[in-house]
Amino acid sequence: MSEPLHFFAITAPGLEGPCAAELEQLGFAGIHAAGGGVEFSGGLRELYLASLHLGVASRILVRVGEVKARDFPELFQRVVRLPWGRFIRPGMPLQMRAVSHRSRLLHTGRIAETVAEAIAHALGQPAPAAPLSGEAFQLVFARLDDDRCLLSVDSSGELLHRRGYREEGGAAPLRETLAAGVLRLLGWDGSIPLADPLCGSGTFVLEAALLAARRPPGGKRSFAFMHWPKYRPGLWQALLSEVERTQRQPAVSLTGSDRDATVVAQAQRNAERAGVADFVSFAQCEVQQLQAASPPGLVVTNPPYGSRLGADVELTQFYRRLGKDLSRAFPRWRVALLAPDPDLARSTGLPLQAIARLENGGIPVGLYATP
Ligand SMILES: C[S@@+](CC[C@H](N)C(=O)[O-])C[C@H]1O[C@@H](n2cnc3c(N)ncnc32)[C@H](O)[C@@H]1O
Repeated sequence: MSEPLHFFAITAPGLEGPCAAELEQLGFAGIHAAGGGVEFSGGLRELYLASLHLGVASRILVRVGEVKARDFPELFQRVVRLPWGRFIRPGMPLQMRAVSHRSRLLHTGRIAETVAEAIAHALGQPAPAAPLSGEAFQLVFARLDDDRCLLSVDSSGELLHRRGYREEGGAAPLRETLAAGVLRLLGWDGSIPLADPLCGSGTFVLEAALLAARRPPGGKRSFAFMHWPKYRPGLWQALLSEVERTQRQPAVSLTGSDRDATVVAQAQRNAERAGVADFVSFAQCEVQQLQAASPPGLVVTNPPYGSRLGADVELTQFYRRLGKDLSRAFPRWRVALLAPDPDLARSTGLPLQAIARLENGGIPVGLYATP
């Protein structure tokens, strides 16, 4: 049996726990949540399964090795010896990301250059190639800490929140990985209805539909590992076929509404592209005009905050009104929302508890929910 590979699933702040829970559900070994992500280990099968099924991770790195280096020639000589041929085809353009802390080598530009040259040398090329615009490339990470350089290759390519179903453009939507993480943090498993009455492009509802229908978030996209010399297309196809066999029709209602007709149409088109249009419904409606819904389920929403609301609207007043509208339209439902500060969440008047500190588009936000 070949040596196991060591992986690191990068997550946004606060999503390490939900990502570890997803990996545990997949039955993987060596799971360890660290700041900014989760370590796990396995072979190519585990990498493909994680890429297909993880809803919360931003990208998955494979550790290529760690070397001690106090000067550039030492860095070059040690990096050359690592097994780059397992992951990179000769001639594949490289994009480097280097960081350095508490080390003699601090010039990150030169670290990146040295590592790229060493990789090219290891692959028998005269020099590393830089990617031209639109061309496939391999992203390589070099992280120096205490004179030890950890080298990793990215297996994902485009960030994993790009499931391949969302239209570009529109108002700043929630990242799919954040929406999936919020659903996990709330323990929503597809067994009770879900509604987002300020749904925008529908991210919560669409991620809920994928989860409830057991459609893997990575089933409709490609990955950087598909360019690796040891890519196994047969294995990938077998995993996709397995998914076809296990998917199911959600048994509960999954609904989104928004006052803006443009975003509602966009949510609908996203649902079609994601292949979940039969399981969700979207409507144009002001939250004030929603009919009382039954039976109880989960309301999860990302109300406007900060500048997105417009200068003429008083934010606290908006949240106060929202709390009343949600209580009326969703009696006995659990209510969860993202809010930039606890005072704003409190101004809804709902008995909200803080569940997690997260980030949405670089803005710190809290996830609050009623019991
Ligand atoms: C921050 S965005 C939600 C983004 C969404 N989570 C996504 O991923 O696209 C807030 C949404 O609230 C909607 N909205 C604001 N006031 C509303 C109201 N009174 N009734 C219904 N929708 C409202 C806006 O049109 C906007 O689409």
